[in-house]
Amino acid sequence: MRTVYFDYNATTPLDPQVRAAMLPFLNEVWGNPSSVHHVGRRARAILDDARDRTAKVLGCRPSEVVFTSGGTESANLAILGTARLLKAKGRHIITSQVEHHAVLHCCKYLAKKEGFDLTCLPVDRDGLVAVESLEKAIRPDTILVSVMAANNEIGTIQPVAELGAVCRARGVLFHTDAVQWFGKEPFQDIRQFNADLVSICAHKVYGPKGAGALFMASPLLPDPILFGGGHENERRAGTENLAGIIGFVETLELFVRKPVFARDKLQPLTDRLIHLLNGLDGVYFTGSRKHRLINTVSFLVAGSDSIALLASLDMEGICASSGSACSVGSLEPSHVIRALGTQPDLANSLIRFSLGRDSTLAEVEYVESVLPRVVSRVQRSQ
Ligand SMILES: Cc1ncc(COP(=O)(O)O)c(C=O)c1O
Repeated sequence: MRTVYFDYNATTPLDPQVRAAMLPFLNEVWGNPSSVHHVGRRARAILDDARDRTAKVLGCRPSEVVFTSGGTESANLAILGTARLLKAKGRHIITSQVEHHAVLHCCKYLAKKEGFDLTCLPVDRDGLVAVESLEKAIRPDTILVSVMAANNEIGTIQPVAELGAVCRARGVLFHTDAVQWFGKEPFQDIRQFNADLVSICAHKVYGPKGAGALFMASPLLPDPILFGGGHENERRAGTENLAGIIGFVETLELFVRKPVFARDKLQPLTDRLIHLLNGLDGVYFTGSRKHRLINTVSFLVAGSDSIALLASLDMEGICASSGSACSVGSLEPSHVIRALGTQPDLANSLIRFSLGRDSTLAEVEYVESVLPRVVSRVQRSQ
C-alpha cells in the first residue's frame, strides 16, 4: 500500500544533513559540558558555540537563548516562570481559546492552583484573535499575555506583532508559541514578533524530537520550573542534550530564514485540496483562507466523525489528523473547533491535512481520487 503522509504539523522526519551533524554528539563527543576536564570542556565549547549560532539566526544575544526539550517545555517555562516571577505585581493572565494545550493547560493550572485570574480571548470564525479584544482585556494587574503565532489544528496565523505591540505599550509581557510558525513563514529576526518570550521546537521543522528553545528578552529571568544544577545560567537544570541542541541549531540555520515549507511549492498543492473540498457535499473548509499556514488545510465533514474518517483514510494509506494528536481516540470535539463556534453536530468531524517539503502533486491527485469515496462511505455508515 502506498503511504501519503499529510501530517507534517504533527511531526516531520529528521533531515539527513541535520542527522549527520548530530551524529558526532551521539558518538565521540559525549562529555558533560559541566565537567572541568578537557573532555567536558570540549562539550562546553560546542554548547557555547551552538548558543552563539542560535542567537545569530534569531538576531538576539546568546544569553537570551535557553535550550529546552521542545515546545511544551518552552511554553511551560515562559508561562509558569513569568507568572511566578511577577505574581507580586499582578495575577491576571491573558491567553486565547485556541492555544495548544502546552499553553492552555499551564494557564489553567495557574488559575486553579496558584490563585491567578485567567482571561481566554475568543476568536472569530476564522480562528483569529481581534487586537481590540486584547486591548479591552488588559487590566492594571495583567502581567502576561500568551497568544500563539500559528495554530496547529487549523493553521490560522495570528496578528502577533500587533498583539505584541499592544502589550508593549501597556507594559505587559508577551509570549508567543511559534512552534508551528517557524519554517513555514518568512523569518528575519526574533524582534518581529514584538514578544518578550518565544517558544520554538525542532521536530516540526525537520529537526530532532525533544529539542527546542525559549527566547527570553534580556533582562527577563523567569523563575525556573526545573530544579537541580545551574545549567543554562540557572534557568533550566539538567545535563544538556548536546546532540539534540546541535540538531536544533542546524534546523534553524537550514530551514527557518527561507522557510523549508516553501510557499511556491505548497500553495498550488493546498489550493488544489481546498478546491477539492469546495466540490464535496457536506464538507466545509475550516480556518482562515487569508491568514493560513501554507501547508495546512483543515475541514469538517457533516454526518461523520474524525475517528471514522481518519481510520478510513489510513486504510487507503493516507496519514491525516483530527487536529491535535491528543484528541485522537476521544470523541470530545477539540477546544479549537468549539472556539470557532462550529455547530455541535459538525464539531467532531475535523480532518487536518498538513503537507511538507516532500509532498507532491501525485500525492494530492491520489487524495483527490480517494477522498470523495471515503467521505461518502463514512457518511453512509454513521
Ligand atoms: C502550537 C504547538 N505548541 C506546542 C507544541 C508542543 O511542542 P513539542 O512537541 O515540541 O513539545 C506543539 C506540538 O504539537 C504545537 O503544535
